[in-house]
Amino acid sequence: MTHPAQPSRSPKPSSTLWQKHQVFEKNSIILVIGILVAISIGGLVEVLPLFYLKSTIEKVDGIRPLSPLELSGRNIYLREGCYNCHSQMIRPLRDEVERYGHYSLAAESMYDHPFQWGSKRTGPDLARVGAKYSDDWHRDHLRNPRSVVPASIMPGYPWLEQTPLDIAHIGDNMAVLAVEGVPYTPEMVAAAISDAKTQGSADDAATPAFAGRYPKAINRDLGGNVGRLTEADALIAYLQLLGTQVDFKLYDDKANIR
Ligand code: HEC
Repeated sequence: MTHPAQPSRSPKPSSTLWQKHQVFEKNSIILVIGILVAISIGGLVEVLPLFYLKSTIEKVDGIRPLSPLELSGRNIYLREGCYNCHSQMIRPLRDEVERYGHYSLAAESMYDHPFQWGSKRTGPDLARVGAKYSDDWHRDHLRNPRSVVPASIMPGYPWLEQTPLDIAHIGDNMAVLAVEGVPYTPEMVAAAISDAKTQGSADDAATPAFAGRYPKAINRDLGGNVGRLTEADALIAYLQLLGTQVDFKLYDDKANIR
């Protein structure tokens, strides 16, 4: 019986590169050194630009620091722990963009110290909740969420509309934020209390000066309680601002992921 010729057992190397790679595969020390070199190249590519880039935040038109009233509202947002259930960061994923609107830009939270991106969504993301509802809706919702969203599990915050807003130190708050890099000028700090009162009341004589300092800020009686600012007014001013600063129609061609 004749056997067919056996094929040659030594496979031909397909390329010399694979032959050179044997050095790594046959010597664990050289393999470890090779892995370290490969990882550090990847690391350097990510880290080095941060040493010469002044800022990694893209410039975006329309972003301004919070007005004194909005800043007071933000402080109440922090005090009440709203961030425990609400994020403020829309990810660039289709389902998020379709539900909440344009994904969040770094510039939109660049004056937030600390930022409110959050990590828990028991309730919906609030990054673009501004101008979505009326002030009245927010007042009812904060007093008793079930009055406007029957199935809501959000707790009510009825004391906010009964508590007068304490803005005595909001100027100091702004001065500290200025040290952290928020562009509050000494003029803005000096006018803080009167600006807060102006924003929460319609038809104020100081309105043009206020509007110059805080372009496009809402300026109206937020709580149906003329001449009196409550904590709810401040929180609503803050909520109504969220996500409304950037005019995305200007950026649609460049930044739209749809
Ligand atoms: C225990 C979790 C929880 C806490 C704390 C909480 N919320 Fe909510 N929030 C929810 C849930 C759930 C919803 C969705 C149902 C609804 O609209 O009430 C919601 C909805 C909202 C909405 C409407 C969002 C939309 O797009 O329809 C706003 C605005 C809001 N919350 C603001 C706040 C503020 C301000 C605070 C802090 C004072 C707060 N929430 C605290 C759970 C919470």
